[in-house]
This record gives sequence, C-alpha cells and structure tokens, in this order.
Amino acid sequence: MRFYGITAALTLLGTGIAAATSGSQPDLGYAELYKLTQQFYDTFQYPNNVKEAKKINSTVFSKNCQGRVSDTRNFEGRELNTEYIFGLFVPSDSLSIIGKPGSYEIIQFAANQNIASATTRVNFTFPAFGNVTFPIVISTWMTYNKAKEITQYDVIFKWFGNILQLLLSTIDKDPIKAQAKGAIALSKSICASHTKFCLGKDIQYESEEECIRFMTEDIRFGQPFELGMNTLLCRNVHQKMLPFRPDVHCPHIGKSGGGQCADDTTYVQKVTEDYYKNSAWIPTGEQPPPIPPYGGH
Ligand SMILES: *[C@@H]1O[C@H](CO)[C@@H](O)[C@H](O)[C@H]1NC(C)=O
Ligand SMILES: *[C@@H]1O[C@H](CO)[C@@H](O)[C@H](O)[C@H]1NC(C)=O
Ligand SMILES: *[C@@H]1O[C@H](CO)[C@@H](O)[C@H](O)[C@H]1NC(C)=O
Repeated sequence: MRFYGITAALTLLGTGIAAATSGSQPDLGYAELYKLTQQFYDTFQYPNNVKEAKKINSTVFSKNCQGRVSDTRNFEGRELNTEYIFGLFVPSDSLSIIGKPGSYEIIQFAANQNIASATTRVNFTFPAFGNVTFPIVISTWMTYNKAKEITQYDVIFKWFGNILQLLLSTIDKDPIKAQAKGAIALSKSICASHTKFCLGKDIQYESEEECIRFMTEDIRFGQPFELGMNTLLCRNVHQKMLPFRPDVHCPHIGKSGGGQCADDTTYVQKVTEDYYKNSAWIPTGEQPPPIPPYGGH
C-alpha cells in the first residue's frame, strides 16, 4: 500500500509523457474508449445497423480504416467496412450462416491512449436456422484517431467452429447429412442471388445450374476457419454483399473468388502478416516497466 502514492505519481507522469510523445495518436482516455466501444456495439446491433449501412461511408470508420476479421480476410476503407461490419449482419431474403446481432454485454475491457480491447457477448438470431438465438463472444482490438473514428480493428469470433457445428445440427443431427443438406440449400441461395444481382459484365456463371454444380462439386464446403478461402462458406458470406455493389462483390462468389475466396494464403503467411500501418498496437507513451524490486506485489 505504501507504494500507492509513488505508483499514482508515476501514472500521472506517464500520462504527461504520453501526451507529449504519442505523435499523431491521441490520448483519449479510458472512459472515452469505453464509451466508443459501447457506441460501436449499439450501432452494430439490429436495427441500428440497417441505418448505419445506408450511410455507405460510415464515419464510425476512418477513411483509411484497416480491418481484419478472424476466419475471413482484411477489409479496407470506409465503404467496404460499412458493408462488411454493418451491412453483412442485416437480415435479408438470402439463406445465410450470418446472424442478426441483438443485445450485448461487454465482459472484459482494457484501454490505453487510443487503443481499446474488449470482449463482448452478443446475442445473435439466425433467420436461416429457424430463428434460433445463440450468444457469440467477440474479441476486438481497436485504435482510434482524434476524430474518434476507428482506424484499425482486429476482430475474433471466439469459438466460431462450435457455433457453426451447432447451427448445422439444427438441420440434421447427423453432422455428415447436415453438411450435405446445408451445402445444397446454401448453393441454391447463392446461385439465386447471382442470377438476381450479377448482371451483364458482373455475370460469373452461365446458368444457375452451372453455378450450383460449381458450388456443390468443384469447391469444398469449408472448415470454420476457411471463410476467406476457396469454399462454399466463403461465398455464402459474400453473397449478402451482392446488393450493395455487384461490380465489387460478384467476383467474390465467382470461380476465382475475386481475392476474397481463394486458396492463396498459407497459415504462416496469415500468422506473420505485417498488416497494420495506421497506429501502433502498443501504447507509445508508456513508461518502460520499472526495474524490480519495485514493490509491485
Ligand atoms: C464513399 O467513399 C468512396 C471513396 O471515397 C467514394 O468513391 C464514394 O463516392 C462514396 N460514396 C458515397 C455515397 O458517399
Ligand atoms: C441473451 O439472451 C438470453 C436468453 O434470452 C438472455 O438471458 C441474456 O440476458 C441475453 N444476453 C444479453 C447480453 O442481452
Ligand atoms: C424469423 O423471424 C423473422 C422476423 O421476426 C420472421 O419474419 C421469419 O418468418 C422468422 N423465420 C422463421 C423460420 O421462423
């Protein structure tokens, strides 16, 4: 306890140094970063996400925002992030493994300077699976700029494999049959969307039959971590994006996968990827750790 005063003094000193040395990164403070995290999840929740998606270039994100979502890929810029973070989770007529986000609670949180890390439990309802509702845990790291826009995010859908298995089990108790039935239903839905939205120069398949054959025979269903690979699951994710900008998104459900659904990245490339350029992920204004013994017990 007697070290409390020293610690507090160091913290104050640290804050002063942070403000002076953090370069272009603002020191937004813990309370503000918590509020921004809440605001993000309020906006993410249906039906607020519908309104946000309509903005096309949501200022929740900075112009140069860089984002990464576990099991899928990286998403850059305002327009693409508005589509994938808000538009993707809006319910539609298409059969989708993506659910509708509802109420949430932040269960873990830490923040410093312009960086916020949260674990949030969100109730999702799945229209394609008889409106079953499951909680999903989402881990986020986010950085913010002075305008309080998200400049970077790194998102993990925790235990996603479990949830996919659980959803498929609502189709059939036998996992093999469930996947086979799911593959047919998802393929039909993707190919119907292709017929509806991918017209003229955006056409990827000569006919709906050819499309269904490709989806069910030429590519694999996909493991839960293969939503950014050459799989049916990946094309199902991108199917929901077709109405937004067919010219951008039709290639993603096409044969090549349009740079989103392709087997072009290895595990090691993914793990060692040096992606983020907008902000440090470690607070730059931090004091180096004190040299023991420093009474930190
Ligand atoms: C959204 O931003 C992009 C990139 O700056 C721009 O090309 C596009 O016209 C904007 N769309 C709208 C509706 O503001
Ligand atoms: C999620 O739904 C369950 C069941 O209806 C409910 O008990 C729980 O409080 C909800 N969680 C949140 C974060 O709203
Ligand atoms: C799921 O809920 C939506 C919205 O309440 C409703 O329109 C739809 O018919 C429901 N689907 C099923 C399979 O119950």
